[in-house]
Amino acid sequence: MRIDLLSLFPEYFRGPLDESMLRIAREKGLIDVRFVDIRDFAEDKHRRVDDRPYGGGPGMVMMPGPVAKALDAVRGEGSYVIHLTPQGERLTPSLCKEFALKEHLIFLCGHYEGIDERALGERVDKEVSIGDYVLTNGCLAALVVLDASIRYLPGVLGHEEAALQDSFEQGIFDYPQYTRPEVFEGKEVPLVLRSGNHAEIAQWRRQQALKKTALVRPDLKERR
Ligand code: ADE
Repeated sequence: MRIDLLSLFPEYFRGPLDESMLRIAREKGLIDVRFVDIRDFAEDKHRRVDDRPYGGGPGMVMMPGPVAKALDAVRGEGSYVIHLTPQGERLTPSLCKEFALKEHLIFLCGHYEGIDERALGERVDKEVSIGDYVLTNGCLAALVVLDASIRYLPGVLGHEEAALQDSFEQGIFDYPQYTRPEVFEGKEVPLVLRSGNHAEIAQWRRQQALKKTALVRPDLKERR
């Protein structure tokens, strides 16, 4: 899958993309990630990309010209443009699965107070929010969407069913996990997990997951 990250701070992505699963996915050639600096598409000699909002208000707005040019330079047949914004559709596992099927994802990361509306319109396929809070820019949100989506690409996790077994796939939390040692700070690993009885283990895990979901996220249980 080809991935283009359009932003004013391409260096922002380096750390997360150079570690762990994202690094391995890149090394295996499962994803081909490129970084596009929107400032390279600025239209004046000062390389200016933002200006004050019409109608007043605080902060700066990204000008439409550089954003439109950057998008048009990377967009092609098979491209899917995701604009990260708090005014977007809330990210869900089903959206992530949908994104994982695309051949080319373009993440458009806004900064400051956002992007001039005229650069967006038919150039954007989906506006996505990662939650009801406002980040200082869209780069972190793009990383979240990218990370959560590529887990559904075959070969990324190594064990194919892992992503489908995760929390939220069944609309509830994950069950609690334990590993060695058998006793830690006086607390033992629950006996059932050491029983070897797979049916009992599955039942126990489900009960634990339901209990915690009801306690912490009753809304999830209701939605289910
Ligand atoms: N940009 C700023 N805040 C955001 C959010 N919550 N989701 C997506 N993009 C954002």
